[in-house]
Amino acid sequence: MNSGHRFSAPTLHAFVEAVFRQMGSHEQEARLVADHLIAANLAGHDSHGVGMIPSYIRSFSQGHLQINRHASVIKDAGAILTLDGNRAFGQVAAHEAMAQGIARAREHGIAAVALHNSHHIGRIGYWAEQCAAAGFVSIHFVNVVGTRMVAPFPGRDGRFGTNPFCAVFPRKNDFPLLLDYATSAIAFGKTRVAWHKGVPVPPGCLIDASGEPTTDPAAMQEPPLGALLTFAAHKGYALAAMCEILGGALSGGETTHQETLQESADAIINGMTTVILNPELFGAPECDRQTAAFAEWVKASPHAEEAPILLPGEWEVNTRRERQQQGIPLDAGSWQAICDAARQIGMPEAELQSFCHRLAG
Ligand SMILES: NC(=O)c1ccc[n+]([C@@H]2O[C@H](COP(=O)([O-])OP(=O)(O)OC[C@H]3O[C@@H](n4cnc5c(N)ncnc54)[C@H](O)[C@@H]3O)[C@@H](O)[C@H]2O)c1
Repeated sequence: MNSGHRFSAPTLHAFVEAVFRQMGSHEQEARLVADHLIAANLAGHDSHGVGMIPSYIRSFSQGHLQINRHASVIKDAGAILTLDGNRAFGQVAAHEAMAQGIARAREHGIAAVALHNSHHIGRIGYWAEQCAAAGFVSIHFVNVVGTRMVAPFPGRDGRFGTNPFCAVFPRKNDFPLLLDYATSAIAFGKTRVAWHKGVPVPPGCLIDASGEPTTDPAAMQEPPLGALLTFAAHKGYALAAMCEILGGALSGGETTHQETLQESADAIINGMTTVILNPELFGAPECDRQTAAFAEWVKASPHAEEAPILLPGEWEVNTRRERQQQGIPLDAGSWQAICDAARQIGMPEAELQSFCHRLAG
């Protein structure tokens, strides 16, 4: 398989389902995981797409990721619901958490759903899109328990995870406005993608093991490990800290400190506190017009033709449109790692080769 090849989304989806069924997932679980990973690739976030497969398989083999499990309710306070993710696939646990949170927001107009102890919940924008598709605004604070990947400003070693923050605003006749990013200068997965491609990461994102700035993604992939920096210096750090507390402590889960450090980089345990709001209940008859006027106003700022002004979420919409037509690009190193992982869980060589053949076609 050549580097730079593009894979058709439906065939890649069928492959991902087959891999997780091979690992032992029931059909619905394999489908939910494939839906999520393919959607992340289609949205342009390859750091949270099919490239996660080898890590999930390692986490399962090490006994961290638990297959065929579900989220369970720990406390039901009406508009506030707390769930234990039971180390289930985050693609299952977060799906269930959002469905229950949306049902509560329908009932009460506002709801908070706290999910802790879930395995990796992937691209947070996906969960916000689930809320937006139901007509709701949502705000998500997420932590990554026990990973020391990101340095607190102005510290020189990793003390917490890439703690994403996300918010969505649905619009009646247009795509939802979506803010969705790691509070680190770049997502950890982007160092994996750069490392596989053999390219540097942008300056200002990484420090090496001695705390010195570097652009070499190996600093996050090979020991001795360095750390990611937060985005926007102290501002990113402060937001990351709030994600840690709201996503980790308030959700009934854990924050990152000496006692909770994970023994494996593949044990990705997320906590997420989500606030879901019904925009219809705000008494804001001008809301749509005001939103549209702002969008038009900012887009009218002078800019070069080749660098258009985008609204939050627009980059993903454009990338999705392009990849649905052209396919999902995957570098040779990532594809090799995925195939090796599929072999490791016993996917028959003939089945793997048949997928390779279909994907190459
Ligand atoms: N589950 C986890 O533990 C975890 C941890 C970290 C990150 N993540 C996920 O990783 C993904 C990637 O994160 P990232 O930090 O690399 O994201 P990023 O730096 O690519 O930023 C994405 C955000 O910026 C917006 N955007 C992009 N270009 C824009 C432009 N020109 N104008 C206006 N807005 C623009 C996008 O619409 C989106 O909201 C996210 O989906 C995040 O949820 C998950």
